[in-house]
Amino acid sequence: MTSSATSSAFEAVGLARSYRLEGVSVDALRGVDLRIEPGEFVAIVGPSGSGKSTLMHLLGCLDRPTSGSLRVNGVDVSTLSDTRLAELRNQAIGFVFQSFHLLARTSALDNVALPLVYRGMPRAERRRRAHQALESVGLGNRLGHRPSQMSGGEQQRVAIARALVGDPRVVLADEPTGNLDTRNGAEVMAILDRLNAERGVGIVLVTHDSEVAAHARRQIHVRDGLIEYDSGTADGATGRDEGRTGPVEAG
Ligand SMILES: Nc1ncnc2c1ncn2[C@@H]1O[C@H](COP(=O)(O)OP(=O)(O)OP(=O)(O)O)[C@@H](O)[C@H]1O
Ligand SMILES: [Mg+2]
Repeated sequence: MTSSATSSAFEAVGLARSYRLEGVSVDALRGVDLRIEPGEFVAIVGPSGSGKSTLMHLLGCLDRPTSGSLRVNGVDVSTLSDTRLAELRNQAIGFVFQSFHLLARTSALDNVALPLVYRGMPRAERRRRAHQALESVGLGNRLGHRPSQMSGGEQQRVAIARALVGDPRVVLADEPTGNLDTRNGAEVMAILDRLNAERGVGIVLVTHDSEVAAHARRQIHVRDGLIEYDSGTADGATGRDEGRTGPVEAG
């Protein structure tokens, strides 16, 4: 079956990305095979410069690979125009960044409603959904605040609400707790845990923090642009059909 209801959320084969900068080529990602199923909770860890963000940008359709293939919900993204790729991103994926990426002079409500503008949704409906998303991250009392009037933890929760407002099947989060203190980081992780457990939203996050990584049920280690370890899913999926997955700890 190839319908999106039964497809992997992500299926990468030989995924590679090189950057060319002043005549020098950097092979940031050097051929990654990876399958992530809908509703999985995955942590990607690895040294600085190992290619984690590069991988996240490719999975999130913010960037295109130099070679290799990527299917998102069963769709080969190389066949999509930039416009269709943006549509896929807008509808299927929520993105959360380390530095929040909010519009500074715009209220929390309008920041969260923004992705819905690109869907041509009427304003009242956009605001209703944005309000609901902010409620779901505990910020129903901060609708009119601008980012500069909110704490770091609150800003990251606004960013999560913005990632959720379009009802994505998966949230990609690149160091979502990287700029937060322990308490705010724990709050953000509690929200992601709940999303995964209660709504079945897939979570793929990058972190340097082993406590954060421990929230995930699957751990992937990236080094020098390659996956050097993948704990695998419960059903053994790693994208390489060679059954080399270690068992996932029970319980
Ligand atoms: N736009 C770019 N142009 C040129 N080189 C880049 C670009 N983005 C990343 N790189 C290089 O690609 C490699 C991988 O970068 P990437 O940002 O994916 O690493 P990372 O694992 O996310 O690191 P960190 O943990 O520090 O965020 C690095 O060597 C980096 O210098
Ligand atoms: Mg990075």
